[in-house]
Amino acid sequence: MKFFVDTAEIDAIAELNELGMVDGVTTNPSLILKSGRDILEVTKEICDLIDGPVSAEVVATQADAMIAEGRKLAEIAPNIAVKVPLTWDGLKACKALTGEGRMVNVTLCFSVNQAILAAKAGATFISPFIGRLDDINLDGMELIADIRQVYDNYGFDTQVLAASIRSVNHIAESARIGADVITAPPAVIKAMANHPLTDKGLAAFMADWEKTGQKIL
Ligand code: E4P
Repeated sequence: MKFFVDTAEIDAIAELNELGMVDGVTTNPSLILKSGRDILEVTKEICDLIDGPVSAEVVATQADAMIAEGRKLAEIAPNIAVKVPLTWDGLKACKALTGEGRMVNVTLCFSVNQAILAAKAGATFISPFIGRLDDINLDGMELIADIRQVYDNYGFDTQVLAASIRSVNHIAESARIGADVITAPPAVIKAMANHPLTDKGLAAFMADWEKTGQKIL
């Protein structure tokens, strides 16, 4: 399973990257706003840091303008994946940009039918949003499972990129289902290391070690 980090914060990406935890990065207009950085500058810095795909999102809504923006974003670095929304125009842009040999991440996917269209349009990645479905009392994990099954049924090679991840359970469940990639905020990735029994066990070992009066160094 590949790990993408869902952020435009350079320090957070660098910290995880040092541990080999970063196979790619995803950004979106809201994350660029949160970073307070210029999109072209910060995306270039991320691409210089990370070898894997770095998703940068177009903001036009018409296909021709999306394609033009996608080409400009792709000029930043060879590892740019142009992110387009799952609209009819976004699918047109996906087809055109993948036809030019560029990676395309089709985002804002909320149904299996949308995921089928993205695969037919040649998407490199499909981004189903788990958390936003959960937010409206639908089952985001069920969508990941359904897309996995349909893509496997027909041998689509578009990679399932589980997105809008809000909890460590979303990651574990995406792995169980067989999502190709997860993208999650740095805090959620770091929280994967936490377990109350680890904390409890460590505290007991430390207390016993103290009683031995010994030192290792
Ligand atoms: C994915 O590419 C998106 O940037 C992201 O996962 C959206 O997450 P959110 O629904 O928590 O904003």
